[in-house]
Amino acid sequence: MTEAKKTAKLTIGENSYDLPIFSPTAGPDVIDIRKLYGEAGVFTYDPGFTSTASCDSTITFIDGGKGELLHRGYPIDQLAGKSHYLEVCYLLLYGELPSAAQLEDFESTITRHTMLHEQMVNFFRGFRRDAHPMAVMVGVVGAMSAFYHDSTDVNDERQREIASHRLIAKMPTIAAWAYKYSVGQPFVYPRNDLDYAANFLHMCFAVPAEEYHVDPILSRAMDRIFILHADHEQNASTSTVRLASSSGANPFACIAAGIACLWGPAHGGANQACLEMLKEIGGVDRIPEYIARAKDKNDPFRLMGFGHRVYKNFDPRATVMKQSADEVLDLLGIENNPLLQVAKELEKIALEDEYFAEKKLFPNVDFYSGIILEAMGFPTSMFTPIFALSRTVGWVSQWKEMIADPQNKIGRPRQLYLGETARDYVDIEKR
Ligand code: CMC
Repeated sequence: MTEAKKTAKLTIGENSYDLPIFSPTAGPDVIDIRKLYGEAGVFTYDPGFTSTASCDSTITFIDGGKGELLHRGYPIDQLAGKSHYLEVCYLLLYGELPSAAQLEDFESTITRHTMLHEQMVNFFRGFRRDAHPMAVMVGVVGAMSAFYHDSTDVNDERQREIASHRLIAKMPTIAAWAYKYSVGQPFVYPRNDLDYAANFLHMCFAVPAEEYHVDPILSRAMDRIFILHADHEQNASTSTVRLASSSGANPFACIAAGIACLWGPAHGGANQACLEMLKEIGGVDRIPEYIARAKDKNDPFRLMGFGHRVYKNFDPRATVMKQSADEVLDLLGIENNPLLQVAKELEKIALEDEYFAEKKLFPNVDFYSGIILEAMGFPTSMFTPIFALSRTVGWVSQWKEMIADPQNKIGRPRQLYLGETARDYVDIEKR
């Protein structure tokens, strides 16, 4: 924690209180209110945490106005263009880009942890065939705490590291098997000769009956999708992981909590919701109807894949994702796909519309990722699991940072209570 060089003065009635102000290396100053309740007897009120910094962190920085996303200081477009997912994982986890030897060692560790305990197969088989793969992921990742007892002691730094490696390594296997189970195909085991993204595509699309070759352009696109979702500072699912782990819960349980939070359509579930929306719109002629609905205050409908809590100019991940979408569609020769035509036209109309401009609503990462994943052959139900597997490194890095922080305390927000004050119990016959 840095030292406070400025203070803010808060006056309540006759009393005033000096509150320390911390200056970050980038971003707005932060007023420290930790002693406010003890000294002034008041809470602050901030539903949705729109003005609250819940922790200090050195991992990811976002400037929503500029459309900037940095991981350990490195811009996302440079990482997406020049790096690959496991190198970004190393950067997020350990704070610096790896040397060639460090990267080789890290890649070898992750590659050698990709298999699941064989008994976990039975766990998968216990789900209903029509289970959503996110339901399977929440269950199976939570169940890892029942299989990997030697990496659940959060007070042991080495166990924390092993748990981090296991989660990053096994998540593609879990996501791919959730998919295989849903389509009734045999599970495909990981292959150590393939890189992280190619291995995932192989586990999803290979079948025992014939050879499957991973197209390098598709595996590069997959790897980019992983990079672009790798971390995003204190978003809802990351904050969920931090809050869950603040009680000392084991890492597998905490990451399962993050997956559950990610599932919602306002967060990671938006990629599935966006594609479903495009399918529902069906043709360009119906776009004005949906734009009108999105603008109607009495209609809860929102254009999925548009808007962001932090980005108010553009989503830098969406810029890279759009490029990637063009490359993949070009490779697969599906520029004339009707869904794509709806997406392109919707993007154009929404960007020109005054309502969206005024409210600073731009296509976000989920708008384009769904288009790529659909083109690659993934069903919409797999979009959010792919987000979850990509974000695992972010959750794990933030979790590790938090546990190692001496200031770490159990998360315990307070409330503005508006219910009844104390009253006497009334016997049932008198009600
Ligand atoms: N379509 C139509 N209107 C919208 C949309 C949208 N997608 N998003 C926000 N608005 C309007 C909203 O109605 C509100 O209008 P008003 O001020 O008149 O009440 C205004 O814009 C501000 O919205 P908000 O809900 O207060 O903004 P927020 O910061 O709480 O919500 C959001 C951010 C991402 C949840 C929201 O924009 C949304 O629901 N978008 C669609 C879902 C989506 O694409 N989510 C993925 C986010 S990126 C990936 C990730 O981080 O998981």
